[in-house]
Amino acid sequence: MREHDSNGPATMRRGRRKFDDDEPDFLKRGRLEPALREDPDLPEVGDQWSSWDGALHGPEPRPDWVRTEHGAVDTELGVLKTGKEADVFLVRRWLPATGQSSMIAAKRYRDGDHRMFHRDAGYLEGRRVRRSREMRAMTNRTSFGKELIAGQWAAAEFDALGRLWEIGQESGLVCVPYPVQLSGTEVMLEFIGDWETGEAAPRLAQVRSDNADLESLWEQMTDALSVLARAQVAHGDLSPYNTLVRDGRLVLIDLPQIVDVVANPRGAEFIARDVTNVATWFRARGLTIDAEGLIERLLFEAGLR
Ligand SMILES: Nc1ncnc2c1ncn2[C@@H]1O[C@H](COP(=O)(O)OP(=O)(O)OP(=O)(O)O)[C@@H](O)[C@H]1O
Ligand SMILES: [Mg+2]
Repeated sequence: MREHDSNGPATMRRGRRKFDDDEPDFLKRGRLEPALREDPDLPEVGDQWSSWDGALHGPEPRPDWVRTEHGAVDTELGVLKTGKEADVFLVRRWLPATGQSSMIAAKRYRDGDHRMFHRDAGYLEGRRVRRSREMRAMTNRTSFGKELIAGQWAAAEFDALGRLWEIGQESGLVCVPYPVQLSGTEVMLEFIGDWETGEAAPRLAQVRSDNADLESLWEQMTDALSVLARAQVAHGDLSPYNTLVRDGRLVLIDLPQIVDVVANPRGAEFIARDVTNVATWFRARGLTIDAEGLIERLLFEAGLR
């Protein structure tokens, strides 16, 4: 690990102070104190050098906004959301020489006592871990075990996003944020929101739309579900809270618990549950929806019929 990485915890502590995060006031946040600037391993601007080197990178061809340059720096802009299992931070990665910048949502899975483990039990069952020492650590929830579990969630989400992004790319229906990189318990993804102001896109649950918008959003939801089905997966926790809407475009997020519907004997049930969760929301707003017909089509697309 490089020296300047040791600044991570200080930055995170500062970010964690704020508990609700829906207001975009991160712009008021300060930079690192001048004293820390004297550290020769820190860049002259930004909080630290870009963590791109040494991370696992997202699928290619990469979008052109992804900053891969050695001279890029990361500036931490604050907390987007503190959640049950992870905290999401806003990071600007930019090149001081040219000013080119990208906005990234950094989702950091918790490995400490604040994490809730409700998703872990089922996930660990039947999963083979190479070394039994690691399996024991995870089963006994030692701090090493907790960190391993958090890392597995991050890796599962990163893989799922990469796969769905690639399939979306091929069919012209990208419905997930681009996964920039994975390092340990942190996944960095394309920030869905206003890149100028840093305001995150609203969740579908918060969107007040007229009927024409709703029809378009539902159609996009069925397209997104088709992308998942063709990848032979179910989201596993699809809801109007795990869906963002930016400029009328729908984007699915929060995918660590993605389900392989071919390997899982209850795969068809998971597909049906995803559909029901979102169909209920649209129906409550007056849309007529053939959920049964959609489920049948998705099962066919997933190769289960
Ligand atoms: N790529 C992104 N762009 C913009 N905002 C994001 C992004 N990813 C996550 N967020 C914000 O962070 C919130 C939490 O993200 P996510 O649902 O992935 O994590 P979580 O730990 O499951 O949180 P929760 O327990 O609230 O569901 C989202 O509702 C959204 O507001
Ligand atoms: Mg969520």
